Amino acid sequence: MSHTPSSPLSAAKSRALSGTVRVPGDKSISHRALMFGALATGRTTIAGLLEGEDVLNTAKALQAMGCPVRRVGAVWEILGRGVGGLVEPETDIDFGNSGTGIRLMMGLIAGHDMRVRLVGDPSLSRRPMGRVLKPLMQMGLEVEEKGKDRLPLTLRGTADLLPIEYATPVPSAQIKSAVLLAGLHAAGATTVVEAQATRDHTERMLRHFGAEVTVGERDDGSRAVTVAGDAELEGRSVNVPGDPSSTAFLTAAALIVPGSEITIEGVLVNPTRTGFYVTLAEMGADVVFRNEREEGGEPVADIVVRHSRLNGVRVPPERAPSMIDEYPVLACLAAYAVGETRMEGLAELKVKESDRLAATAAGLAANGVSAKVDGDSLVVGGGKSVRGGGAVATHLDHRIAMAFLTLGLGADRPVTIDDAGTIATSFPEFRSLMERLGATFAVPEAARG
Ligand code: S3P
Repeated sequence: MSHTPSSPLSAAKSRALSGTVRVPGDKSISHRALMFGALATGRTTIAGLLEGEDVLNTAKALQAMGCPVRRVGAVWEILGRGVGGLVEPETDIDFGNSGTGIRLMMGLIAGHDMRVRLVGDPSLSRRPMGRVLKPLMQMGLEVEEKGKDRLPLTLRGTADLLPIEYATPVPSAQIKSAVLLAGLHAAGATTVVEAQATRDHTERMLRHFGAEVTVGERDDGSRAVTVAGDAELEGRSVNVPGDPSSTAFLTAAALIVPGSEITIEGVLVNPTRTGFYVTLAEMGADVVFRNEREEGGEPVADIVVRHSRLNGVRVPPERAPSMIDEYPVLACLAAYAVGETRMEGLAELKVKESDRLAATAAGLAANGVSAKVDGDSLVVGGGKSVRGGGAVATHLDHRIAMAFLTLGLGADRPVTIDDAGTIATSFPEFRSLMERLGATFAVPEAARG
């Protein structure tokens, strides 16, 4: 799936945002629900699956590997093949823009006796894959292009995977999940040790599907996750809660635009994902979690946001894993806060769908906001009105696109992004939902055909 290239869009100063909405399903949970369903025996149904391009690419990949995946009315249905039951695809598998889809799938391919050539769009083709391939090769995966770190890559899996213990060198739920997924196929227990806890949806959902997963703390404070090999998973029903990373754009918009009050219902508030909300509280934002409950093994809440006067803060590096995808929008929000916001420990931002550190700083500077990259930190100066009027290069990055449209909603002059097409990878309803709340978007004059 690919978007129409170059569809510019502008966001302009908006009237107060108001209303109650739901955002589409969480992207991380959606990918996992499809893949775990494929590895289970029997029928899995998924309600609330995110129907963004990234997740649909995962569904297509599973179909190409012999697993029936289809939408039946309001739910998605998977007829699982059992652990080790996928078959070699006849053609290359194209993951488009999706790092999570391809990296988790590498763990799955590792455990199957099959050869698969993997490709992606220009953004995905620039991203490092060695971080996932390294532990998988220790388990027995072969990569035909020896030593190569970027797509396209041809992988050869094996039905005889070895279990390993692996300490992740960077905090990454994708590395952790790929190794645990491969571990399901290995003969024995596989352990991933992470110095900083990353999102734990794989652990939670594997248990839901009947896998044996144990989580412990090591003496040095690191977290060890172990999965039993030769696993058998059983088909289940999964309810996907609203994506907190998509919610972050709506939340920031309501905080920016004076007079706003909005409610976003049914949002995932798993503590490994809520660093953005911890930061907002420190900035003085009026954001309240209501009706907190548990749905399908994940904590969920309705989030009420009212426009607030914000203060700049220091965001400590240890918070990064719990808000890794929210820094571009936090940086845009910080432009409206009083004083400086310093976000530290952002090395991983450089290897996302774009170099988000550079792209965020450049977009802010183009719109008259003081922004500086200082090593792995990003420093944004707020306190003045945001001039806007700038053009932002999105570099095939959906979150850069949405962050800067959000910036434009309070700026003196419209903010224009070069390509809104990328937004469909994670949040196809972004524009219509925001407009429903009162946001003003327009296709720039020069781009109208
Ligand atoms: C994800 C993990 C994170 C995150 C990505 C989704 C996941 O990536 O940025 O959007 O679903 O496991 P890393 O594992 O590279 O930190």
